[in-house]
Amino acid sequence: MKKFFIFGLLAAILLWGCGYKDEAAEKKPLVRAEAVDTGTVLITVGFIQTGKESDWRDANTNDFLQTFTREKGYNLIYIDGNSDPERQVKAAYDLIAQNVDYIIIDPIVEDGWEDVFMEAKEKGIPVIVSDRQVNVNASHYACWVGSDFYKEGQNAAKWLEKYLEDKGREKEEIKIVLLEGTDGATATRGRTEGLYSVIDKHSNWKVVAKEYGNFTQGEGAQVMEGILNQKIEFDVVIAENDNMMFGAMNAMEQQGIAYGVGTDVITISFDALQEALAKVIKGELMVTVECNPLIAGLTEKAILDLEKGKRIEKVHFVKETVFTQENTVLHLMERKY
Ligand code: AHR
Repeated sequence: MKKFFIFGLLAAILLWGCGYKDEAAEKKPLVRAEAVDTGTVLITVGFIQTGKESDWRDANTNDFLQTFTREKGYNLIYIDGNSDPERQVKAAYDLIAQNVDYIIIDPIVEDGWEDVFMEAKEKGIPVIVSDRQVNVNASHYACWVGSDFYKEGQNAAKWLEKYLEDKGREKEEIKIVLLEGTDGATATRGRTEGLYSVIDKHSNWKVVAKEYGNFTQGEGAQVMEGILNQKIEFDVVIAENDNMMFGAMNAMEQQGIAYGVGTDVITISFDALQEALAKVIKGELMVTVECNPLIAGLTEKAILDLEKGKRIEKVHFVKETVFTQENTVLHLMERKY
């Protein structure tokens, strides 16, 4: 009897798995799935974007606009969050009131989502979180699709570690300027924590300046200008995205400071935009750690699986590369953003 009970329990656990199955979708009549398949019914998807802070963001927005098209059976409601977290939350309430079929959210910051996610769940509207993450009980959303920001940060710092070793500079004092993204955003938290997981192992590495630049080129330039005006000495500039690095480069140029290969300033950033790859080839940027904006396909797959009543995984990471002078040339032409 005991054996039978344990076997039953194991079978139940295996069947349950660790994924998400949308209860509301399960109750939808089969005819809906058929109607969607034959194109007689459109799936209404509300997409709340962060804003237009960077070229990465534009590539990400275009990817969603090109994936969720009318021809493919979607009625996409696109909302620009305008870099305003409150506006994003309000937009989510509006989409719930419109009773859309799905809500996709690229959250600006992690906090402030719990109530609206609970409301969506109560109304049976699956929410898919994309790019950055949210500080919400995972049972309140269908899944998350995006980058491993911690690993990105770690990869950037490991590159620096290896570079200094190769140059025989591992014992030197290394002064680092860090331009962070937006306070409270996963891309900032993850990259900063990943960077520090390596920085903290080197007592001779010092972060001499650390400021937020909100992932924009303008603020990257402003923050760097401020640091240069304070006459802070540094050996490395790490910007948590390419656009802030482009801004920082402009600021350094204005003050006659050379950067990149063959100079005294090591330059590191994130995203791997086409423009950044071109700068890597020229040696101006020494490494850019890829953050892949093309995640609409994985998001669509999750929606199609939910439509079919399938259980889906909670977490979906995208593949990413580290671009240096050694491996970039091959990728420059094929880069679409
Ligand atoms: O959340 C991803 C980050 O947001 C990208 O690195 C940055 O460019 C964007 O604005």
